[in-house]
Amino acid sequence: MKATPDLRGLIHAILTCVTAGPGLGFNRAVLFLTDDRQTHLVAVMAIGPATPEEAHVTWTSLAGKNHSLEDLLHEVTEESSKSAFQALVEGLTIPLDDAEFGSSGGPAPTGHRAAAAGPPTRLNPLLEAYRSRRVVKIVEPALLGDIPPRLREVFSGSEVVCVPLLAKERALGVIVADNAFSGEPIGEQRIQLLQVLALLAGLALDNARMYQQVEGQASQLQQALDDLHATQEQLIHSERLATVGAVVARVSHEIRNPLTTIGGFARTVRAHPEDLERVARNAGIIVDEVEKLEALLKEMLDFTNPKPPTLQRTDLNALITTLANVHRDELSRCDVVLTLELEPNLPAVFLDRNQIQRMLLNLWQNALHAVEEQPADASRMLTVQTRHEEGAVRVACSDNGRGIPRDVLPHIFTPFFTTKPRGTGLGLAVVKRIADAHGGSIEVQSTLGSGTTFTIALPIAR
Ligand SMILES: Nc1ncnc2c1ncn2[C@@H]1O[C@H](COP(=O)(O)OP(=O)(O)O)[C@@H](O)[C@H]1O
Ligand SMILES: [Mg+2]
Repeated sequence: MKATPDLRGLIHAILTCVTAGPGLGFNRAVLFLTDDRQTHLVAVMAIGPATPEEAHVTWTSLAGKNHSLEDLLHEVTEESSKSAFQALVEGLTIPLDDAEFGSSGGPAPTGHRAAAAGPPTRLNPLLEAYRSRRVVKIVEPALLGDIPPRLREVFSGSEVVCVPLLAKERALGVIVADNAFSGEPIGEQRIQLLQVLALLAGLALDNARMYQQVEGQASQLQQALDDLHATQEQLIHSERLATVGAVVARVSHEIRNPLTTIGGFARTVRAHPEDLERVARNAGIIVDEVEKLEALLKEMLDFTNPKPPTLQRTDLNALITTLANVHRDELSRCDVVLTLELEPNLPAVFLDRNQIQRMLLNLWQNALHAVEEQPADASRMLTVQTRHEEGAVRVACSDNGRGIPRDVLPHIFTPFFTTKPRGTGLGLAVVKRIADAHGGSIEVQSTLGSGTTFTIALPIAR
């Protein structure tokens, strides 16, 4: 188990409870934990004086202060309690492998092993406590068994007790405590209290470790998410560049044709200013082409500089009727019959009249193109319906034109997508943007060869 700063705080609190006067009052305590690979016990922290002199100084300064355990837990930090003892012990490792150090070879039969009873063995009491998950008390330090020399040096003066740190039957490590300086024997009651503390400490450490794991996983997930965002940004960026490239190609193509025409006819006018009939004819063509350029510019600006809608309470039926009256002649010149099927008593809607007109005109223009591509003898119908449904007013524009092929349908709202040799691919993108800006939605239904219906829902409530 890795002792991160949070975990070290917890371990320090545990050892303070073991050593503080108002706690269990042991002179010294060392906490060992298994390493990540579960191959060694590692001394992660030690509290207590290193020498009798240091013990004397510490105890004298604490005497009379009457600190409670809670005071000590709050006031004494790992930093402030750093001692030579800590330096001496920290980092000491004990292999869990039998081959390297001797062990009892199995769980101890009883709770405490009094080393005085029975012949001396090459036992490592820490390993024994860890493996048997029971308390091991060494009465005679000379019988400490097979432990690293540095540890033997430290714990050679008095009784020592080794208590396993358990979490749900699993040993996490060992607390080793002694009374090296007071020489006080370690009584049964103290051991029992230490056992209870070790139990709680084990659970707390296990929880902390699990929390750490969850935190680690969360930060890994966060990292993965950040990477994903970065990749997505890159993709969007390259997609944008591709779109910009397509736009530039499209726009330059759109502009080049009318410009070439205008240039050609303008040069003819300059070469033959006396041919007034020709001048008038060419001027007419030039005006036509300039109008196309103006329309293109308008469409581009509508798309690139959308204005937020200026909402006004509006009778949608009236708006459609007016717009139809303005454009009916133009449509009938193309043999298109425009029919209005407007639901009477339609509730008023809040909308930007200019934008909704632009939306309808874009749809009508597409309808016109679609019906124009049908056989010459076919009737050309454009129908506009309104109805009130589910808190929205719906406008449906239907044509009996060529319909939209299945593979084209998913792309029609994409800016600059067009199937027309002279299309801009902006009409439906603008329609969708206007519907969205009104909190509305747009749907399309199309049957190849027989027609298309675009339905826009505009919410009534504001
Ligand atoms: N009423 C319709 N009938 C058939 N196809 C349509 C209709 N409306 C739109 N489309 C298809 O959607 C494409 C995109 O339309 P739009 O965004 O208005 O751009 P443009 O009209 O400049 O091509 C058109 O090129 C056409 O293929
Ligand atoms: Mg269009």
